[in-house]
Amino acid sequence: MPIAKTIAEQLGRGSWVRRMFEDGLKLKRERGEENVFDYTLGNPDVEPPAPVLEALERVVARRRPRSHGYMPNAGYPEVREAIAAELRHNTGVEFTASDVVVTVGAAGACNVILEALLDSGDEVIVLRPSFPEYAFYINNHRGRVVPVETDATFLPDVERIAAAITPRTRAIMLNTPNNPTGRVYPESVLRELNALLAKVPQAITVISDEPYKAIVFDGKRQPEVSSLIAPTAICNSWSKSQALSGERIGYLALSPRLPDLPDLRSACGFANRILGFVNAPAIWQWVMLEAAAATVDISGYEHKRNLLCDALSAIGYEVTRPEGTFYLFLKTPIPDDTAFVQRLAAEGVLAVPGIGFGKAGYIRLSLTIPTDYIQRSIVGFERAFAAVKAEASQSAKGRR
Ligand SMILES: Cc1ncc(COP(=O)(O)O)c(C=O)c1O
Repeated sequence: MPIAKTIAEQLGRGSWVRRMFEDGLKLKRERGEENVFDYTLGNPDVEPPAPVLEALERVVARRRPRSHGYMPNAGYPEVREAIAAELRHNTGVEFTASDVVVTVGAAGACNVILEALLDSGDEVIVLRPSFPEYAFYINNHRGRVVPVETDATFLPDVERIAAAITPRTRAIMLNTPNNPTGRVYPESVLRELNALLAKVPQAITVISDEPYKAIVFDGKRQPEVSSLIAPTAICNSWSKSQALSGERIGYLALSPRLPDLPDLRSACGFANRILGFVNAPAIWQWVMLEAAAATVDISGYEHKRNLLCDALSAIGYEVTRPEGTFYLFLKTPIPDDTAFVQRLAAEGVLAVPGIGFGKAGYIRLSLTIPTDYIQRSIVGFERAFAAVKAEASQSAKGRR
């Protein structure tokens, strides 16, 4: 039985991730785990905050009757109200419990809102470089991806976005703090985008994917997207902020400033059900009622950012410090990022090529690697840099 052409084609496009993973396994077998410096996976390497684990223990010990059964598809009403109250407090926007759907992570939230919004052939603007899964999510829901390049500093370019809008545009995926670039979009850009959306004739929803919102460095904060952009649907989770990526708990929050809100609320609750999620995990909803505000200590990520950025700058790499997330998007010393990834792999350093995020000439490095691995990997970065520079100067001489 052949698999569907669409999924076969998507498997093909996603194959660089598989290749990285397989190359990594092979390298670890050959050299030993401790000699391979794996910067590929964005899986938090810290434990969840103590208040979260304590709340989990309390919830389990309480043995509340029937707390493991089905519930309303959008989640327990008191949990939705607690999320709405937190959003009201943080954003100044009057979110209510009815605007919230508790979801299977931020990924679940993105899929729910896309299912609710898209008809076949509807367009969704994706700002490149971007989280590669967006294209698959949009495809899941019959949509068409419209890629729009960010500016030279990886901020949204509102003029380019304006030029990409057509009568079929239904949504824009916005992700700040951004994976892979580590950029934190400033208030001014968000305001500009809001002004643009107020001018266009049709309703366009900004899908604000915010799972890294709590991970911003240098004592700064991510400006609240939903305070600044009226038609916002927030997709958030505790995957990164509480290091719970395997537990699959997050939420979708529809700004009360979105048009046709009653229909949209019903569509999202229904989408959560028919996509097969049915509802988000029950136990974790109860935990979030007690510990939603806790966050992991981000100083470890900030320390590793400084360590790696300083070391790479000293070697001669062109480094832009990430302002948030736990990724560094590093310019490669040669334009061919996949060739440079191979070069680094020969030194035991595993990275993801920028082309996987729609931007050649860069690699993504995840700071979820232990500090001592960063320290021991620097020599590999140094050798790879020296090797490609030497080759470039050889070939320049050859041309003369
Ligand atoms: C930008 C972005 N959005 C969404 C997700 C998915 O988050 P979750 O695990 O909460 O579904 C990730 C995970 O890496 C991500 O990087």
